[in-house]
Amino acid sequence: MLEKIKETVTYIQERIGTQPEIGIILGTGLGRLVNEINIHSELDYHDIPNFPVSTVHGHKGKLIFGELGGKQVMAMQGRFHFYEGYPMSAVTFPIRVMKLLGINHLFVSNAAGGINRNHQVGDMMILNDHINLFPEHPLRGRNIDELGPRFPDMSINYDKELIARAIEIGHQNNFRIHEGVYAGVTGPTFETPAEYRYLHIIGADAVGMSTVPEVIVARHMEMTCFAISIISDLGMPEQLVKITHEEVLDVARTVEPKMTLLFKELIGTL
Ligand code: HPA
Repeated sequence: MLEKIKETVTYIQERIGTQPEIGIILGTGLGRLVNEINIHSELDYHDIPNFPVSTVHGHKGKLIFGELGGKQVMAMQGRFHFYEGYPMSAVTFPIRVMKLLGINHLFVSNAAGGINRNHQVGDMMILNDHINLFPEHPLRGRNIDELGPRFPDMSINYDKELIARAIEIGHQNNFRIHEGVYAGVTGPTFETPAEYRYLHIIGADAVGMSTVPEVIVARHMEMTCFAISIISDLGMPEQLVKITHEEVLDVARTVEPKMTLLFKELIGTL
């Protein structure tokens, strides 16, 4: 595994000529943040050795290198979801690559279902914790001791300072913004009413099909993490309505400019 990661890192380094400091993963319908990046190189997932290829509608499948908020960033336009059939090692492979490229900060966006009565469609929720409900753990199997410990601490996964600054930026711009717990599930089904109730009872404020595996692997390597959900639909009993992937994409696209501004300003403070 380590050899594969190193092979991919060498391939990328030979083609970019800069040192990215920040890794960004853009969620469903949230890929246009790249328009704000002063791009100097792009690599297609197809061309990168050992890289999985993204299949889901609404995802592009490119690594973008450039400058955002005065920092050198590497953005993934399109991520790998567990529901697509990839093993966890593939879902989290790009995070390993980021770390060996010298990146120590991970920024993630996603679309999620709100299961907190204070949420409205189109709100943003900054993750302050997560619940891992995926049936396969990304760190199961032989530990790569060179990259992190066998039994990593998960007590502070989301950087408190970045959360505080993001809330401040949100308030300055009059965004509806919350903090909360994200439950990561496999999908691809959206939740049943009983499942939304269950997730609410166990302490989740939002639910989605990504982010948790990537953050676990990033924290294994002691990267600083910041993640934000766009609340694309609501799951609490009195708010629950039918939902489609297209509606999730629509909400994400509508909220995207706010999220983009927030990411840009937040990255600028690093
Ligand atoms: N559940 C799971 N994933 C999601 C949802 C949801 O309600 N909305 C957007 N992604």
